[in-house]
Amino acid sequence: MLTTYTMPHGEIVAGLCAAQASISPKYFYDQQGSTLFERITALPEYYPTRTEGAIMQMHGQDIKASIAAAATVIELGAGNCEKARVLCNLLQPRCFVAIDISGDFLQQAVNGLRNAFPALDIRAVVADIFDQVHLPPDLPSGQRLVFYPGSSIGNFDPEMALGLLQRIRGLLANQGALLIGVDLIKDVAILNAAYNDAAGVTAAFNLNALTHINRLIGSDFNLDDWHHHAFFNAAQSRIEMHLQANRDLRVSWIGGERQFRQGERIHTENSYKYSVPGFAALLERSGFRRPQAWSDPRQWFAVFLAEI
Ligand code: AVI
Repeated sequence: MLTTYTMPHGEIVAGLCAAQASISPKYFYDQQGSTLFERITALPEYYPTRTEGAIMQMHGQDIKASIAAAATVIELGAGNCEKARVLCNLLQPRCFVAIDISGDFLQQAVNGLRNAFPALDIRAVVADIFDQVHLPPDLPSGQRLVFYPGSSIGNFDPEMALGLLQRIRGLLANQGALLIGVDLIKDVAILNAAYNDAAGVTAAFNLNALTHINRLIGSDFNLDDWHHHAFFNAAQSRIEMHLQANRDLRVSWIGGERQFRQGERIHTENSYKYSVPGFAALLERSGFRRPQAWSDPRQWFAVFLAEI
């Protein structure tokens, strides 16, 4: 039935039909995409995940000392819940809420977490964090900590990031803080390598968005007709990911079609890179107070803590 497609169909088709075609990066994350992203985080070129982990190891006690005891930790984009394990060990909250857009993947991860933390009250919420997020109504009272690791904030342009930070303040219900990982501006060669890995996992991740879209809107993208293209755009301080057509072609879906010329691109992701003062300013513009940052010795990544 056509109505089955109405919600994602309209948004996806609008992106595909725009003069500069685009697909929202949220469509990377079906089951296969979440698995590919997990592989990306372990790639030698992809430094953000391990650098953030090292910062948490190195400065965990300092971070803990700066956070008022949190009754509830809420993780946005919880993915495989690996980072949650480290944070829950460190902070020992009563309740952990994992929010992610990829439902099946989240459920598996939460089951693993329940085995590791049998006494912790663990909730899974499947939501697109850019839409309205409805938290369970019966969370414990007391301080909350929203945890948004991995520089996922970088996947929003700065104005959208500002809006998201303002909505995160809403999740805190006037009590608590935000702990957020942010990728920093660095040597262009290092940035470009992180999004063009030698094993081609990032390329497969990018192309998988087409498989996902084919399933959602009944389109006939052929992955052999497209290739991964990623580069640092210094003027905008962002990595851009695109899918580029290998030949002139036509793509059809339920209710429409579009021609693409050889070399034409579909923009699939931006990944903004910040300076420490630049991101602290964004936190303050969104209403957070007293931002503090911890970084690694090479200053490649930073973990910020900011109060409501
Ligand atoms: C999820 N996000 C922070 C990743 C990033 O680095 O922007 C997504 C990603 N795209 C390609 N590689 C990783």
